[in-house]
Amino acid sequence: MKIKSVGIIGLGQMGAGIAQVFATAGVSTYVYDAQAGATEKGVSGIKKRLERLVEKATISAADRDQTVKLIQPASTLTEFKAVDLVIEAIVENTEIKTKLFKELDTICKPETIFASNTSSISITKLAAATSRPEKTVGMHFMNPVPVMKLVELIRGLQTSDATYTLTKETVEALGKVPVTAKQDFPGFIVNRILIPMLNEAVYVLMEGIADPTDIDQAMKLGCNQPMGPLELADFVGLDTCLYISQILHRELGDSKYRPCPLLVKYVEAGWLGRKTGRGFYQYNQ
Ligand code: 3HC
Repeated sequence: MKIKSVGIIGLGQMGAGIAQVFATAGVSTYVYDAQAGATEKGVSGIKKRLERLVEKATISAADRDQTVKLIQPASTLTEFKAVDLVIEAIVENTEIKTKLFKELDTICKPETIFASNTSSISITKLAAATSRPEKTVGMHFMNPVPVMKLVELIRGLQTSDATYTLTKETVEALGKVPVTAKQDFPGFIVNRILIPMLNEAVYVLMEGIADPTDIDQAMKLGCNQPMGPLELADFVGLDTCLYISQILHRELGDSKYRPCPLLVKYVEAGWLGRKTGRGFYQYNQ
């Protein structure tokens, strides 16, 4: 692995998963979250997951200790100044992400590559906020990151061949499989296809065609999907599904992407899926 050190910003579900896979691959991994207590919570989640892997004899106790040792919580972003690669996995908000990249641009060494785990925001726009658009790229991991093999690479309009090649090699060295979105268009590959499918499942529910369990069973047993679309929407988060749907609808301008009104209602009600204990299904907290 050419990348020797990485900085992960945002230690939610995705950021913590990304940190775990880099540290497991032997990379020195700095982690930072601006929200009080979030870094500690993210690191403690990684430790719990590693512990489960030791219990299942998937890794040894020595591997666990080595991985944990490579995870270094940072109290400010200035600690990221010498890292080879930064991956942001913060809230899906263009202004907040742009501000972060501008700040990182003044902190990190000129060679540092900037990657965003965004599922829907233009890489070209984020890159343009920096003085190194050719070193900015999309690295979209899938949830749950330690399990899912895929990483979608997105080339912004100005991403250089050297940056793209290095990130592709990095993904492969993590033991994951890269696919490339050659054009930086809304939803890239996965969400351009997945989110309209999940949204359509909500229409099938709203129109009274079938109950949630039958919709999910149909796609699980009929199409060999590991989770049915409503179960998966709850897993991803209904707010995230709605947000991506809105971006596809607005930016591609085609009515086929219109978010289902029932999805909008659920989000308005605060029924966001697993994370709030209620979505299309109810979960014990
Ligand atoms: N974190 C880490 N590991 C996890 C995990 C998590 N959140 N959830 C499950 N696992 C691990 C388990 O420990 C288990 O590992 P083992 O094989 O070593 O014992 C393995 O995954 C399988 O777990 P289970 O046996 O408990 O359950 P399943 O067989 O049902 O698998 C699943 C769980 C892997 C989540 C499977 O249901 C699945 O693949 N679901 C679809 C996930 C998917 O489509 N993700 C993409 C979402 S879209 C996205 O991320 C893009 C975004 O931008 C919206």
